[in-house]
Amino acid sequence: MQRSMATPHAPPADLRRSLEATLRFARRSGAWVVPGVAAAGSGDPERAGETLDEIRAALGDCRRCRLWQDRAHIVFGTGDPDARVVFVGEAPGYHEDRRGEPFVGRAGRLLDRMIAALGWSRSEVYIANVLKCRPPDNRDPAADEVAACAPFLERQLAAIRPAVVCALGAHAARALLGVEGPMTDRWGKPAERHGVPVVPTFHPAFLLRNPAAKRRAWEHLKTVSRLVRDPGVVDGPGPAR
Ligand code: URA
Repeated sequence: MQRSMATPHAPPADLRRSLEATLRFARRSGAWVVPGVAAAGSGDPERAGETLDEIRAALGDCRRCRLWQDRAHIVFGTGDPDARVVFVGEAPGYHEDRRGEPFVGRAGRLLDRMIAALGWSRSEVYIANVLKCRPPDNRDPAADEVAACAPFLERQLAAIRPAVVCALGAHAARALLGVEGPMTDRWGKPAERHGVPVVPTFHPAFLLRNPAAKRRAWEHLKTVSRLVRDPGVVDGPGPAR
């Protein structure tokens, strides 16, 4: 998708505040798809059988939040539409925005090695992000941006129906699990979301800065691998700590 040359505009402050309040409510209720804003993916009969191509077409030249103004490309996601594992990161960075593909920079090369260590290749899994457009200067995703983008990830997950979702980093884990606060006690622990286990692990960019954490990340990834082979009962997200 080409960068648009139309005049940039920010959403009105009252719309932003209302979206943020709705998202806070949804998070407290344990959901991350905002009622009324989101088209629910999981279990929505109207969306049953939807393909990734149809979801990409529905996303269109998205302007549902302010991030379209600076993007070069929408980064939809890549990989096997029938993948058993979906890796979900935070948002595209500079390289991903230029290429239109998730995790193609330095962090992406480490993610490729993590996937290879589990015996898979990038084409055998699916890789996506909570946000499909790059936030300026790689800042953290804003609540209204997550609320605008989340329904499409939801629909992608409903179309792929993976055995396991691996959340890369705290932003992805919080968005997927509808939790807030420190992740300290959640890393590596599967938590169920719409009947699918979500395993939060460290973001590859964090691992590049903190290589000593790779040992713990490997334990998390082994949990991902075990759940692909033997999906079992997992805990819910539980209270934030
Ligand atoms: N970091 C992310 O979270 N996602 C990408 O696609 C690239 C870097």
